[in-house]
Amino acid sequence: MTRKLFIYSTLVFWIMVAGFGMTQVFWTPDDAGVVQARETIITPAELAGHATPEDCWMAIRGVVHDVSAYLPEHPSRPDIVLPWCGKESTEAYETKMKGRPHTPYADELLAKYRIGMLGKAP
Ligand code: HEM
Repeated sequence: MTRKLFIYSTLVFWIMVAGFGMTQVFWTPDDAGVVQARETIITPAELAGHATPEDCWMAIRGVVHDVSAYLPEHPSRPDIVLPWCGKESTEAYETKMKGRPHTPYADELLAKYRIGMLGKAP
């Protein structure tokens, strides 16, 4: 009786080991083969090509934003914000040109307009 039990449990043990081995061979995780999307790199020259109120990109903290849709809503006078279209504008954004930073709300808004990272000139 004990011998039968021993043989039976050994058999069950090895079946389980084999089953586990099979899952490793045949089971592939859902995200296998998924390639992470790389973010678009925008050069300073490309950035400079979007310098009008209707087509306005700004690079802030290394990230490029297409803020064209937001500009009509921006609370300052247009002549304060428009000269920064097509430019590296981190300092202007961080000081509002008067030594005061934008609020966290503005940061959240800005993030929605992210279109890529500022690259180096070729
Ligand atoms: C880089 C050039 C920019 C300059 C020079 C600038 C300057 C200003 C100024 C003068 C004001 C009004 C006065 C004040 O609130 O103190 C203001 C307010 C504001 N701006 Fe800008 N701005 C710039 C870009 C942006 C961008 C790209 C966004 C968002 C997409 C933005 C969002 C806001 C918001 C939400 C306010 C209301 C007050 C606050 O939340 O700080 N601004 N900005």
